Amino acid sequence: MSGSENVSFIKVSRVLPVRRWQALRLIARVEDFPALVPAIKECRIIDRDYRRTITSWAVEMDGIPICWREEALFDYKNFIVRFKALTGDLESLEGHWSFLEGPSGTTEVVVEAAVRIGVPIMDQMVGGMITEKIRGVFESLLRFFEESIIDKRYQKMDSRGANAVSGFGVIGHPYNFQHLIQYLRSLNPNFNPPSPGFLGKVFDLMPAYVSYDIREFRSATGAVTRGAFISCNIIPEMLALDIENVIRKVVDSCKVAERQGLGIVALGGFTSIAGERYGDVFLKQVRIPVTTGNTLTAALVVEGVVKAARLMGLELSKARVTVIGGAGDIGSACARALAAMTREVTITSRSSDNLKKMEKVIKAVRHAKFRGSHDNNEAVRHADIVVAAASAPQSIVDISSFKSGAIVCDVGYPKNIAYAETDRNDILIFAGGICEIPSEFNPGFDIGLSSPRVLYGCFSEAMVLALEGRYENFSWGKGRITREKMDEILMLAKKHGFCLAPFFWGRRVLSDAEVAGIGKTAGRI
Ligand SMILES: NC(=O)c1ccc[n+]([C@@H]2O[C@H](COP(=O)([O-])OP(=O)(O)OC[C@H]3O[C@@H](n4cnc5c(N)ncnc54)[C@H](OP(=O)(O)O)[C@@H]3O)[C@@H](O)[C@H]2O)c1
Repeated sequence: MSGSENVSFIKVSRVLPVRRWQALRLIARVEDFPALVPAIKECRIIDRDYRRTITSWAVEMDGIPICWREEALFDYKNFIVRFKALTGDLESLEGHWSFLEGPSGTTEVVVEAAVRIGVPIMDQMVGGMITEKIRGVFESLLRFFEESIIDKRYQKMDSRGANAVSGFGVIGHPYNFQHLIQYLRSLNPNFNPPSPGFLGKVFDLMPAYVSYDIREFRSATGAVTRGAFISCNIIPEMLALDIENVIRKVVDSCKVAERQGLGIVALGGFTSIAGERYGDVFLKQVRIPVTTGNTLTAALVVEGVVKAARLMGLELSKARVTVIGGAGDIGSACARALAAMTREVTITSRSSDNLKKMEKVIKAVRHAKFRGSHDNNEAVRHADIVVAAASAPQSIVDISSFKSGAIVCDVGYPKNIAYAETDRNDILIFAGGICEIPSEFNPGFDIGLSSPRVLYGCFSEAMVLALEGRYENFSWGKGRITREKMDEILMLAKKHGFCLAPFFWGRRVLSDAEVAGIGKTAGRI
C-alpha cells in the first residue's frame, strides 16, 4: 500500500454459530454473495485453485458504484484469508479475514481492511464516508451468514427437535426500576445510580444478552439439557409507553436464543404479556418455538391452593374464591379449574365485556356461582381463597383487605400485592406458580425467589419441554389453557423432578406446620 496518508481502516466482527472450517467455507463461496447482500451486484470467479482465487467485484452502495479485481489467498492452517485489490476504482483495498474459535462450537469471524480512495481532495472530504459504506457491506454480509445458518437450523428441526437445536432459553427482566438498580449493585456494590432519566435511557439502549449460561441442567431421570437466561432490557411500565419498542426487544431476546441454537424459549413476566398481545404476528418474527409457560404456572397455582386448603382445614366445596385479573390467561385457567371445586368464584376485571365473557366461562363449568367485580379490594373481602393474577406493573391490592384465614396466592410478576414483610399472621400469603426444580438455577442475582432450587413455573415449563425434546409452542394464545394440558405438563414436570415449591413470601419460607398454624390462628382447625 503506498504510504499511510488518507488510509481508512475497517474492522468488523461477528460470532457465527458454526465451527471455524464451516465459517471459512462460507467466506470462500464468494459467488453466493450477490444473493445475500443487495449492494454486491457481481462477484465472479476469474481463476481459482485450492489456495488462491481471482475474483471480479461490482458493488453499489447508495448509488456509488465501485469495481475491482481481487486476489484472495487461503491459509487453511492458520484460518486466515488475505485479500488485495489488484486493479479497480480504489487506489488500494487490502485486508484479511480471520476465524477465531469461540465457545460451544462458535467462531468469531473478523474482517480487517485498509482502504484508500486515491482521488485528490475527495480522499480527505469523503474518504471516511465511503469507508463507512464499505464497512456496512461487510457487516451485512456477516449478518446474512448468521441469518442463513440459523434459518437452516430451525428449518431442519422436526417436532422432536432433531439435533440441530437443543435446550431451553428463559427470558427475564427486572420487575421495576429499583430491581434494576439492585441488579446493577450485585455487579458492583459501590455503584451509585445516576439520574433515573439517564439510567433509563442507557438501559433502553442495551441489547438483549445471555446473563447466565446453564451448561448442564439435570432432570431427576438423569436426562441432561442445557439452557440460557436471557436478559431482556424492559421494565413493566415500558409496555404502556411504547409497546412496539418492547416487542422489538422481546423479538431480539428470542434471536439471542436462536443464536445459541436453543430448542425452545420461555417468555417470562411481561415479555409474554407483550408477545401475546401480538399473538401469531409475534410468532412469525421468530424461528425458535416459544412458550409463555402459563400452563405449568396455572397448574402450580391450583395445586398450591388445593394444598394450602388441605393444610389449613378449608373445605374447598364450601370456599369462596376471588381471582384478581381473572379474565387473563393464567387467571381464567385458574378460575375455571377452581370453579369445578368450590362454591363461588368472583372474577375481577377493569372491563365489563371481560366480566361478561368470564360469566359464560364459569357458568359452563356448572358448579360454582359466578360474581364479577371491578373493585379488587372489595372483591377479596369475603374470599377464602384469592388468586392474584393481574399483569399490573405495580401492586393493586391492599393486604389489609383480606379476611382472616384467607389463602392468598399471588402469581403476578411483579406482584399484585406489595412484596414486603407483613404482620398479617392470620392469612397465608404466598408467591404462586413456583416450582421446586431438580437442579440449581442460579443467575447470581436476586430474581425474587427463595432459593436456587425454586423457579418460576413459566421458566420451568420450557425446561421440562426441552428435557422431553418437545420443541413446540406449548402455551401460546390467550384463553387456550385446558385442564388436560395443565395435567399433561404437570405430569411431565413431575417425571423430571419438578414439583410445587414450598410456600414463601419475600424472604420468608413457610413449613407445612406453619401453614397449618395459620389455619389454627384463624380458628379453622
Ligand atoms: N409465577 C410465574 O411463574 C409466572 C408465570 C407467568 C406469568 N406470571 C405473571 O402472572 C401475571 C398474569 O399473567 P398472564 O399471562 O395471565 O397475563 P394476562 O393474560 O395479560 O392477564 C392478566 C390480566 O390482568 C389485568 N390487568 C392488566 N393490567 C392491569 C392493571 N394495571 N390493573 C388491574 N388489572 C390489570 C387484565 O385484565 P382486564 O383487562 O380484564 O382488567 C389482564 O387480562 C403477570 O403478572 C405475569 O407476569 C407469573
